[in-house]
Amino acid sequence: MKVLILYETTHGATKLCAQKLSDALGGQADIFRAKRFSGDMSQYDCVVVGSPVYGGSILKGIKNFCRANSDALCKRPFAVFFSCLSESGESVSDYLRRNFPPELAGRAVACESFGGAFYFSRLNFLDRLIDRLLVKGYAKSAGIAVPDGNTDFVTISDEKIKDFAEKIKKASERTA
Ligand SMILES: Cc1cc2nc3c(=O)[nH]c(=O)nc-3n(C[C@H](O)[C@H](O)[C@H](O)COP(=O)(O)O)c2cc1C
Repeated sequence: MKVLILYETTHGATKLCAQKLSDALGGQADIFRAKRFSGDMSQYDCVVVGSPVYGGSILKGIKNFCRANSDALCKRPFAVFFSCLSESGESVSDYLRRNFPPELAGRAVACESFGGAFYFSRLNFLDRLIDRLLVKGYAKSAGIAVPDGNTDFVTISDEKIKDFAEKIKKASERTA
């Protein structure tokens, strides 16, 4: 079984999720930024795409990749993960429906939020100030705990990644 994991990230949390997923798949995965991938998708038993969510939207790199490669993606098991703070099934389904072409959203063999992260310690003074305000606004509107703006805040769940990897393995075995 060989899995292709394509991701985009702004601050690194989604890259970390992609690496953890590759580990959970026992290293049977290749990982690329979607923007840089130019390989042959037919070499893979399953394609997984991952993106953070900002204001309800995934990153353009993933959106554009999925639109441009919808036909090829429909030919094999396809799965989606989000690195984001909302974890309810309702939010995840909503992000999937709003951000992916309907023909792809409807055939995802797995779709999950792995949780998110704010790495305040990695930001420069100005970025930290801006992100602190944005995150505060987002956390309040989403009804979740407001990060203090100094300490790195990570909700990424290894358990969810493990469960997702199992779904991918099963879906890939069925089509092998
Ligand atoms: C301005 C802002 C808006 C955000 N909007 C959402 C959102 O709509 N839904 C959500 O679940 N998480 C939201 N988040 C949380 C991010 O998706 C989360 O921090 C993610 O792990 C960032 O991933 P990255 O480091 O790969 O960019 C938001 C974060 C920021 C800073």
